[in-house]
Amino acid sequence: KARGLRGKLDKVVLATTKTHLENYGCEVVCFTADVSQGVEELEGLEKKAKASGASQLVVKDLREEFVRDYVFPCLRAGAIYERKYLLGTSMARPVIANAMVDVAIEVGADAVSHGCTGKGNDQVRFELTFFALNPKLNVVVPWREWDIRGREDAIYYAKRHKVPVPVTKQSIYSRDRNLWHLSHEGDILEDPAIEPKKDMYMLTVDPEDAPSVPEYAEIGVESGLPVSVNGKRLFPASLLAELNKIGGRHGIGRVDMVENRLVSMKSRGVYETPGGTILFTAVRELESLTIDRETMQVKDSLALKYAELVYAGRWFDPLRESLDAFMEKITESTTGSVELKLYKGSVNVTGRSSPYSLYRKDVSSFEDSLIYDQADAAGFIRLYGLPMQVRSMLKQGI
Ligand code: ARG
Ligand code: SIN
Repeated sequence: KARGLRGKLDKVVLATTKTHLENYGCEVVCFTADVSQGVEELEGLEKKAKASGASQLVVKDLREEFVRDYVFPCLRAGAIYERKYLLGTSMARPVIANAMVDVAIEVGADAVSHGCTGKGNDQVRFELTFFALNPKLNVVVPWREWDIRGREDAIYYAKRHKVPVPVTKQSIYSRDRNLWHLSHEGDILEDPAIEPKKDMYMLTVDPEDAPSVPEYAEIGVESGLPVSVNGKRLFPASLLAELNKIGGRHGIGRVDMVENRLVSMKSRGVYETPGGTILFTAVRELESLTIDRETMQVKDSLALKYAELVYAGRWFDPLRESLDAFMEKITESTTGSVELKLYKGSVNVTGRSSPYSLYRKDVSSFEDSLIYDQADAAGFIRLYGLPMQVRSMLKQGI
């Protein structure tokens, strides 16, 4: 009985309901993933779904899976996009899309849908995940297919159909929140020369208003993955939640940047990643003890590729999976603990230790040591610098 998509749809799993009833006449199942976007977004959803015409709402709690299987691997890899972005939204899309594919099977849907615009990265991330996990699913994208051409249109559409949405025309930030981060885009941020308003931030206090007494935090790490905070062992999601609280009160992890979207435009975004920023600092500091120079260079260069793949929605690409296998192996001995000092937006290391530390005081000390003979350095420097010397001899006609 379905219309549209060459009359093929029977049941669809998605977020925006009314349009699908109108356009396809198919049964609609709503789906929401809980990735800790906050109670405001999760409350009253069933009522909203039913009021919008859905036959049912499926909610899946993906918090633990998100942090354990998506966030922590990126952290272990040291994946940062364009020098600043800790990929909060990018890593959440594949875990959500993965669950949507499962729900589509459970309820017998022949299509899935998402509410991303046609101008962003998120559409790519959802759809590449659908392709990778179930190539047979149809994908319905209202923003690209119907008359919704901007956020104003979307809000108007929702109003007309009495679908409650949390944005007003006054505050039209596009926000995305999960346990790792909160992103802000749109509205006044679209002018990259303008400072964000103080009241825009939601996870972190203004560093100026943070306590004037520093706080120390000790992070325990095993094989590149965080396992404890201040001596307390915690599962991934609660560990991150705990650090968000600590980082948030010290104004840690604000990033304001202009990034290059996959769809080739530049976009200004502001991110809050309090716990994540603490964890990135901790893991990187520990690697300074456990990883040698050349390994670190290779790891860092692959981390760039890793981040690019995650940003571009290619989570389920064998290339990312293979890079992940490398990251897992290379961080096997990144175990130990890091002590950090948090103070008015900054996070600085004060100490690190590891049972697998490659740092040896008896080698590195400026005091005389048995293993390192300073006389060896003379020959080393002569041979190491030979190309320099040869080139300069050539220049001077020697
Ligand atoms: N620019 C960031 C990214 O591409 C954040 C996207 C935020 N998404 C959203 N629907 N508000 O990962
Ligand atoms: C969107 O366009 O839906 C949000 C921004 C993005 O995906 O980059």
